[in-house]
Amino acid sequence: MRAGPVYDSVGTPVMKKTVQQIIPLLVSCLLAACGGDDSTAFQNGLNNSAASSLPLRQAADRANFNWGAAATVLREDALGNPAYDAALAGNFNMTTAENELKLPFLRAPDGTYNFEPADRIADFARAHGMKMHGHVLVWREDLTPWLGENPTREDGIAFMRDHISTVLGHYRDNYPDVFTQWDVVNEAYRSDGTLRASGWQQVIGDDFIELAFQFADEAWPELTLFYNDFYELNFNFFGSLLDAGGNPDPDAIRPGAGPNVALSTCETSLKCLAVQAMAEDFVARSVPMDAVGFQAHIPNAFAPDYATFAEWVGPLGLEWIITELDAPCPNDDSANESCFNTQADIFRAVVQACVDDPACATVVQWGVADGYSWWPGLSAGSFGRPLALDFDFNYKPAANAVLEVLQGR
Ligand code: G3I
Repeated sequence: MRAGPVYDSVGTPVMKKTVQQIIPLLVSCLLAACGGDDSTAFQNGLNNSAASSLPLRQAADRANFNWGAAATVLREDALGNPAYDAALAGNFNMTTAENELKLPFLRAPDGTYNFEPADRIADFARAHGMKMHGHVLVWREDLTPWLGENPTREDGIAFMRDHISTVLGHYRDNYPDVFTQWDVVNEAYRSDGTLRASGWQQVIGDDFIELAFQFADEAWPELTLFYNDFYELNFNFFGSLLDAGGNPDPDAIRPGAGPNVALSTCETSLKCLAVQAMAEDFVARSVPMDAVGFQAHIPNAFAPDYATFAEWVGPLGLEWIITELDAPCPNDDSANESCFNTQADIFRAVVQACVDDPACATVVQWGVADGYSWWPGLSAGSFGRPLALDFDFNYKPAANAVLEVLQGR
């Protein structure tokens, strides 16, 4: 099903509801989420959602636009930390689980599932009238822990179908009002346009991608199902092109052209061309993929032209989504103001491109605030501060840039 407009907390498209109309909806939702008719819980819930809605969330809601942030419970100072919770609920109307819905975090090798961490994020989303997109069913996992040394194609297909139906079945049955879209397959292609040799690809074969979408559609046909990947060149700041044995690693994220080549048309990226070809084939064969996710981890100093780069998606009848937006700065103080202003230009350009295209309705940044980004870990501390909110959850130039775009919608 297509993503469509932003929905309120009980799954109804938010058109021009007034506060008076929204409160009863919040009451029913918050009481349900807070475990019954406890007025204190309701009041707390209200304090956490409508009353403390900050400019970014107000603008996103008014614009019928999904402006989100990835959240996590895997850190003590994240979900459950009042300042983090207030920043997440106050500034965003969508969230996703940074890691908690990935196979290694959900399913033990003995086949048992632990949904509790991701459920905490879904409970928070419901309590604050937020939507979620799921991330991710099929990625780069080595399936040996679950399938042993020499699984057959049939073993792999059965495992994939079971995993997808179990995960989507759990959230379909328990959070049908929260999830609107799901990242079914992530990063299946290398920068040179060939398929990454993930465990799924090795065990099942190249058709693992379409099988994943078919299984997801079987499990929850109402969801918007999307393929997700990154396209920015020179991503491989600090990674290695060699595997542990010192041999060229076919799956390494190959650096692209020069350090500051902004994305323009899809033709500039062999990976984008491969994804486009896959999308065209899927549409032609009615494979149930509804959208394409563009991660938008933007290490370059130039804002990518997503309006042009993603212009091929809408004409295919598909939607596109910015799924993991961030734009890191050097972690020294040398270029603070300049880098934050460039970051604002990047956030402004990306959100504007999505707002301007009827085929796009969602931008998610990869983390709630600068203190919760993956970039310092990736870059051994050299890069960070890539998000719209700073370490104290205050608005950076990028936040004000997004606010201007959403207010102008
Ligand atoms: O939670 C465990 C902890 O118990 C353990 O002690 C610790 C040390 O092994 O690991 C912790 O898990 C780490 C997890 O982040 C939570 O912090 C994993 O090792 C680490 O690999 C994982 O990194 C995540 C990475 O995806 C790989 O899954 C990053 O947080 C996350 O930001 C990153 O996000 C990805 C998207 O899913 C896909 N697109 C690219 C993006 C950036 O790589």
